[in-house]
Amino acid sequence: MTDGYAVRAEGLRKRYGDKLALDGFDLAVREGTVHGLLGPNGAGKTTAVRILATLLRLDGGRATVAGLDVARQPREVRARIGLTGQYAAVDEVLTGRQNLEMFGRLFHLGGKRARLRAAELLERFDLTDAADKGVGKYSGGMRRRLDLAASMILAPAVLFLDEPTTGLDPRGRGEVWEAVRTLVAGGTTVLLTTQYLEEADRLAARVTVIDQGRAIADDTPDGLKSRVGGDRIEVVVAERSDVPRAVQVVARVADGEPEVQEAELRVHAPVTDRVAALTEVARTLQDDGVRVEDIGLRRPSLDDVFLRLTGHRTDGADRTDRTELSQKREAAV
Ligand SMILES: Nc1ncnc2c1ncn2[C@@H]1O[C@H](COP(=O)(O)OP(=O)(O)OP(=O)(O)O)[C@@H](O)[C@H]1O
Ligand SMILES: [Mg+2]
Repeated sequence: MTDGYAVRAEGLRKRYGDKLALDGFDLAVREGTVHGLLGPNGAGKTTAVRILATLLRLDGGRATVAGLDVARQPREVRARIGLTGQYAAVDEVLTGRQNLEMFGRLFHLGGKRARLRAAELLERFDLTDAADKGVGKYSGGMRRRLDLAASMILAPAVLFLDEPTTGLDPRGRGEVWEAVRTLVAGGTTVLLTTQYLEEADRLAARVTVIDQGRAIADDTPDGLKSRVGGDRIEVVVAERSDVPRAVQVVARVADGEPEVQEAELRVHAPVTDRVAALTEVARTLQDDGVRVEDIGLRRPSLDDVFLRLTGHRTDGADRTDRTELSQKREAAV
């Protein structure tokens, strides 16, 4: 029995030595949806996914996947899931087709069915043209799509995607998003971990925000956004010396402290009477002779939500991520 939930976790705990990686983590993922698990480096995302995928034993709490208990029925769970890890698992020397056929045989499909399934998946993930090229020659986006295809060999009910687009350029990222949408349209439930706020916003019906091994929010992307108090006014000035003046002017119409992104000469703050605020700020800055590069109203981003929920930004995490990624790339070369 799934009660409409493909994944349920209650009070998951996992300790590595004296490090508590999961500290009472809760999650509920509706069948047939993309659910985002959003959090910075070290929040516990991979640990949660590995427990749900039965690759790691939990220390406390309980979890079901496709209605099956991960601790007591790991074999049955494994038959219903797919997983792509933070690092692609495909073989560089083989072609895309050979990789998929190999995975098919690993899953005991038999030669003929493995070939058919490979051809089907190459088509589905738009890899037919590149099917007989060595994977070493694939772009990042193509490799991730091949990785997704490999995890779909057995058409799993639930697919875990651990940071499927980390390190991809915007185009590769867009390709993977499209592939994920295709999967879900075919009935698969996807739990996707990400550090990218935009990714959760674009793909997920619901988002669980994880910080230090605990779910600190669970909501729709829009619901999360509205928690930070609605719209924000945003001004980008042309000259660095005008930033303090922009802060003053924005502060007069704002509901809260203006925030400043120095590097981008950007000032923003929450507002309630959006149009009045916009008009007032635009007029005052013009009267003052401040050159404005850009001015507008925007819905709060998930980054703003994270700041509101945790008291800290995700920027630091993103920076670590980039450093780590370049190290991973160097290690891979
Ligand atoms: N095998 C391990 N041994 C010891 N500590 C670990 C181990 N794996 C993870 N941790 C720690 O547990 C915490 C959670 O790690 P986890 O990998 O689940 O985070 P994450 O959210 O996936 O991070 P990232 O975004 O960097 O992938 C971190 O503090 C990490 O350092
Ligand atoms: Mg991880």
